Amino acid sequence: MNTPVEGFSKLTKAEKIEWIARNYTKDPDASKQLLERYWNPEEQVQKLHDEFIENTLSNYYLPFAIAPNFLINEKLYAIPMAIEESSVVAAASKAAKFWLNRGGFKTTVLGTEKVGQVHFIYSGNPNKLDSFFQNLKPALIKSVSSITQNMEKRGGGIKDIQLRNFDEKIPGYHQLHCTFETLDAMGANFINSCLEQFAKTLQEQAQSYPEFTSEEKQIEVVMSILSNYVPNCLVKAEVSCHISNLKEEGIPGEVFARKMKRAVDIAKAEPYRAVTHNKGIMNGIDAVVLATGNDFRAVEAGIHAYAAKDGQYSSLTNAHIEDDIFKFWIEVPLALGTVGGLTSLHPLVKLALEILQEPTAKELMQIVAVAGLAQNFAALRSLVTTGIQKGHMKMHLLNMLNQMGATESEKKQLVTYFKDHTVTNASVKEALERIQSR
Ligand code: MEV
Repeated sequence: MNTPVEGFSKLTKAEKIEWIARNYTKDPDASKQLLERYWNPEEQVQKLHDEFIENTLSNYYLPFAIAPNFLINEKLYAIPMAIEESSVVAAASKAAKFWLNRGGFKTTVLGTEKVGQVHFIYSGNPNKLDSFFQNLKPALIKSVSSITQNMEKRGGGIKDIQLRNFDEKIPGYHQLHCTFETLDAMGANFINSCLEQFAKTLQEQAQSYPEFTSEEKQIEVVMSILSNYVPNCLVKAEVSCHISNLKEEGIPGEVFARKMKRAVDIAKAEPYRAVTHNKGIMNGIDAVVLATGNDFRAVEAGIHAYAAKDGQYSSLTNAHIEDDIFKFWIEVPLALGTVGGLTSLHPLVKLALEILQEPTAKELMQIVAVAGLAQNFAALRSLVTTGIQKGHMKMHLLNMLNQMGATESEKKQLVTYFKDHTVTNASVKEALERIQSR
């Protein structure tokens, strides 16, 4: 029976490893060795990673890969992706190559507005709160001038502050709903610092507002925090071509175009399919977001909320056929940064941004949206033609062989063999046993 631990964070790394291995693992020595095996041999690099978070014991690797040949607005990119799922990078590369010869991807940033809110309770006369807010607004902006001055010099800062009344939902509940331009920074720290100061200023100013009764002066701030829902930090990526250029797997272009459109329409109409459809999009989006050191949880939360903005969870991509032109596009909210956070700290993130030719946040939004669109195109293309398993199991073959303990030479032989045989768990096992018994 394990017992709670006191002061775990104060232990040294070796002591933490010892404690977890002894108390929670079956073979403590093997567990200790495993954790140490994943340390970086360069002390400085390991220290850097240790200090990203608390109670670090080791590193957790994800493959870092490249999907080349992405033509975006006439510029060629090789896109770094960090992801564990086999076939995602292969699918992205395949989609990139497909569109490379058909005009490439076109993208537009539709907005870059970030959002933050001060949530507070005021149960007095709403008209008085409205009048108070008119005077308050300039005071709020002034109160954060030391935080915003650098951002303003670069063209960013606070865009607007609105008073919003949600009294009908929760008695007394109001918000300062604030919008920001944070340029190349994701902006979480900037926004949260502004919001916490707004909250203080709100309470202080209420105390000295002569029209408020003594009760009305007691504004209760519940919390001040940015919102990861950023429907006006939006990017669009699209591809299009004549349907005759879409001939696939022996299927005529117009049939393939219709099948693709129908697949998207189904995801538009029905949430069970929409979730999986969008999951495929997130395979591409998350992998680039992670490789470039951005916050994939924030991106996920914001995107899924956007997918449900019309009251039902729906597809993030759209397909349209008009005058024999097939058009396929995505619109996604993406709050990303290319400065600050991990971007200047994690060596691989720095490299990823260098590979992407040091993008601005706006450029990164476009690249990430393209990765999502490409991934969806690749998934639907397989689904409406050969089915997903053919390609997927081929890519998964090495994982299976590694799990079965195949040697390098066995793997080589079997990869060749399965070029024209169906990959299943049983067929791989059988083929491996056949080789091994020779
Ligand atoms: C698998 O990771 C993603 C897919 O399920 C996406 C889709 O069904 O569109 C293939």
